[in-house]
Amino acid sequence: MQMKHLIDILDLSVEEIDELIVKARDIMEKPQNYSEKCRGKKLATLFYEPSTRTRLSFEAAMYELGGHVLGFSEAQSSSASKGESVADTAKMISCYADIIAMRHYKEGAPLVASMNASIPVINAGDGGHNHPTQTLTDLLTIQCEKGRLADMTIGFCGDLKFGRTVHSLLNAMSRYEGVRFVLISPEELRIPEYLRHELQKKKIDFRETQALEESLPELDILYMTRVQRERFFNEADYIRLRDSYILTPEKLEKARADLSILHPLPRVNEISVRVDSDPRACYFKQALYGKYIRMALILRLLEID
Ligand code: NCD
Repeated sequence: MQMKHLIDILDLSVEEIDELIVKARDIMEKPQNYSEKCRGKKLATLFYEPSTRTRLSFEAAMYELGGHVLGFSEAQSSSASKGESVADTAKMISCYADIIAMRHYKEGAPLVASMNASIPVINAGDGGHNHPTQTLTDLLTIQCEKGRLADMTIGFCGDLKFGRTVHSLLNAMSRYEGVRFVLISPEELRIPEYLRHELQKKKIDFRETQALEESLPELDILYMTRVQRERFFNEADYIRLRDSYILTPEKLEKARADLSILHPLPRVNEISVRVDSDPRACYFKQALYGKYIRMALILRLLEID
């Protein structure tokens, strides 16, 4: 057992990700076998930024494993509002819980927590940087929907600059054979330079474009994202860019019959609700997969079979 924390998706090898996927699928099939696995264990959810799915799926995951949950869902209700550092908080929580899931508006905060905690720390999203457990969710979804992770053309559409789920999924998918990326965004919301550099260095097949409709026919997966309002410096830019892409049934006529549409959620306006009944829409199912892969991850980090 080498892995103690999950801060970056690349902390996990491809083999370790495969094992988590296998475990999550076993939990999905036989949940009764897991209902007592975390009896007496406590998960601390330390959320300094808003969340619905990530926090509640972590909580549901721990309850379904027979464990307990404690924590806070906004910085204001914790001692952060009195000026306590992430490092001190991590030391404190290590006295009260067995494992931490932390979301923070500062990039690198969960890493700092992991360096100070004596229990495993999971990054549940750090600023505009990474979101490894959403990536595990996305990978489980792709594996279940497509039956494979390799040989895939994935379109990422929307806010590729600030979208942390995009950054982590690009890094994860870059390790599979035959993967191609089509990066669809307004000029101002293209992927960060450091990531472009990484993709080039790894000789990944990718192209950047502003055109959603003409890219659709070639995609196996379309990963839609929300324009990340909270990371903009000014509201006027957000308002100008927020409706850059709106996926509708009409646009989807050009897409393949076996396309899978993913979205980490929350959706704002970028997918019309009329798309929800399309059999290619996977985003609500994806949220359910998120609970199972988090159950697998908690077991793994607590070294429970
Ligand atoms: C994402 C996030 O927090 O980065 N949400 C999530 O965890 N499912 C995506 C987003 O907020 O747009």
